[in-house]
Amino acid sequence: MDILKAPFLTDMTRVSEQIYAKGWGEANGGNISIRITPKEMLPFEKSLCVGQEVTLPFAMPDLAGDYFLVTGTGVFFRNIASSPLESLGIVHINPNGETYSVVWGYSTGGRPTSELPSHLLSHVARKKASGGQDTVVLHTHTTNLIALSFVLPLDMATVTRELWEMMSECLVLFPDGIGILDWMLPGQLDIGHETARLMEKHHLVLWAHHGIFGAGKNMDQVFGLIETAEKAAEMLLKVMAAGGKQQAISTEQLKALAKTFNVTPQTGVLD
Ligand code: 13P
Ligand code: ZN
Repeated sequence: MDILKAPFLTDMTRVSEQIYAKGWGEANGGNISIRITPKEMLPFEKSLCVGQEVTLPFAMPDLAGDYFLVTGTGVFFRNIASSPLESLGIVHINPNGETYSVVWGYSTGGRPTSELPSHLLSHVARKKASGGQDTVVLHTHTTNLIALSFVLPLDMATVTRELWEMMSECLVLFPDGIGILDWMLPGQLDIGHETARLMEKHHLVLWAHHGIFGAGKNMDQVFGLIETAEKAAEMLLKVMAAGGKQQAISTEQLKALAKTFNVTPQTGVLD
């Protein structure tokens, strides 16, 4: 079977184009990783070729044996669909969880995104929190969520509540709220650990003055989650620019919404 027709690859190229079209993927901004189980990789094994082995900054036994389709560092999102073999790569976490090998892609000498620590550590957190369901981690430079991080206090409860109030879908789609990180140096292990710590409780983590990390069970779910939060952020900025709220969905109404849609609001947001 042609690996370029594999669902994980078509998902990646399709969503990369949509991210560019949304204006969130300027230049090389953003990166994506998809976890692929050894079983899912079986039909494509003939396309793989074990290459360079790289030592991970520390062992990740929870990911041992897993494959990850990862965008390359410096790759422009608008070019991913037309040149997947150059823009993307698949890494295989070796059985000891201490190293990975590139087994496909990066055909012109590329390497995985500089945000690989944040991606892999988020996968560890979400794999555990979701009982193995979550497979996608998506980082992108969402214009309005970034803008909001300049005007709202950087705490989970405030930002989550403000977004939930913007439209009924928000609480239903992200009842676990949005984790918030103060600005940190990108591409480092530290921001990876902090992101993963928040990913234990949230599917969305806002990197102040930088972008958003989203995780979930498939690409459509994660994209939908991010575009909903981003739309809410856009509306909030418009409301602020128009002089602020005159009325909004009340705490009691948000609680009724959660009850009706059978979701549990993140602790501390409505209390
Ligand atoms: P990469 O090009 O290394 O993926 O970095 C882009 C980015 O968004 C850094 O946060
Ligand atoms: Zn970024």
